[in-house]
Amino acid sequence: MVKLTANFAEKVKIVEVGPRDGLQNEATPISAIDKIALIEKLSDAGISYIESGSFVSPKWVPQMATSTEIFEKLNRVVGVTYAALTPNMRGFEAAMAVKADEVAIFGAASESFSQKNINCSIEESLERFAPIMTAAKKANIKVRGYVSCVLGCPYEGDIDPEQVAKVASKLFQMGCYEISLGDTVGVGTPANVTKLIQAVSTQVPLDKLAVHFHDTYGQALTNIYAALQLGVCVVDSAIAGLGGCPYAKGASGNVATEDVVYMLNGLGIETTINFEKLLSAGWFISEKLGKAPVSKVSTAFLAQKQQTV
Ligand code: HMG
Ligand code: MG
Repeated sequence: MVKLTANFAEKVKIVEVGPRDGLQNEATPISAIDKIALIEKLSDAGISYIESGSFVSPKWVPQMATSTEIFEKLNRVVGVTYAALTPNMRGFEAAMAVKADEVAIFGAASESFSQKNINCSIEESLERFAPIMTAAKKANIKVRGYVSCVLGCPYEGDIDPEQVAKVASKLFQMGCYEISLGDTVGVGTPANVTKLIQAVSTQVPLDKLAVHFHDTYGQALTNIYAALQLGVCVVDSAIAGLGGCPYAKGASGNVATEDVVYMLNGLGIETTINFEKLLSAGWFISEKLGKAPVSKVSTAFLAQKQQTV
């Protein structure tokens, strides 16, 4: 297959965030058994990194209250990373107790969003993360870092790419091996993405950056394409386009994994994902939620499948 742009990576890693970012904002309660079935379908489809839960306040994010049970009962596949979100030492300890392979800390480029999401300022959040970094290093656990609101904030509007670069740089210097840039409200466009990646990559190497785009304004796939053109090779996505963010009202789910993988396949970029099995995983969880997948690709394949039965 012909490659369109020289900077495209040969291979792109998909970080599947559906079981965490996706489900955390779905109103229909999903049982631990069904969440586990979803995670196992995703690993069976060849996804090698699955954010499987988060250890946050169950009062704030009730859907994640099953995270302990999920990690305890999950059939783990060798070579697959099962990661958890941990906002503080308490969360980190809970994640370690159930043998999460990796953890993620999550900060923001916007002060207001930081306050709403984790009830502290950006500076205070970094102070809370410091002991996690120390404990993780001691336990030989890798830590991923998120920066939210990289292309806009639901409370503050535009966010300066330099501010994102500053927070990303701090997380990287603290020891995060990868920084995931979250367009929490999905407002970005390719021009902003390009400026963002250019600014952040002066502080954090390009191969240590991931993009995490919500699709509220329908720009996520285009924005991922812009990031790929610059050489980004890690993309966060959620099966069936699940979810949103509880602290960004109206924000829709992450870009659908099915849509990203379909695009990568078309570009001849390797993902090692079985597309049929991926589609089935999306249909499984959508049925449990009682709603259609938020993925045009999945919807198109489902229509084809229904025509042939
Ligand atoms: P706090 O109020 O600053 O901390 O919350 P606190 O120590 O005063 O504790 C408050 C309550 O939380 C207490 O319970 C604690 O016991 C409990 P209460 O006395 O009210 O019954 N608590 C915990 N419970 C379970 N696990 C813990 C834990 N820590 C405290 N680890 C805290 C701080 C961060 C915990 C709270 O604000 C919280 O849980 N927030 C939820 C944050 C969240 O999950 N947001 C969504 C994920 S981030 C996201 O989606 C964005 C991302 O996808 C990227 C993007 O798209 O941009 C990553
Ligand atoms: Mg998110």
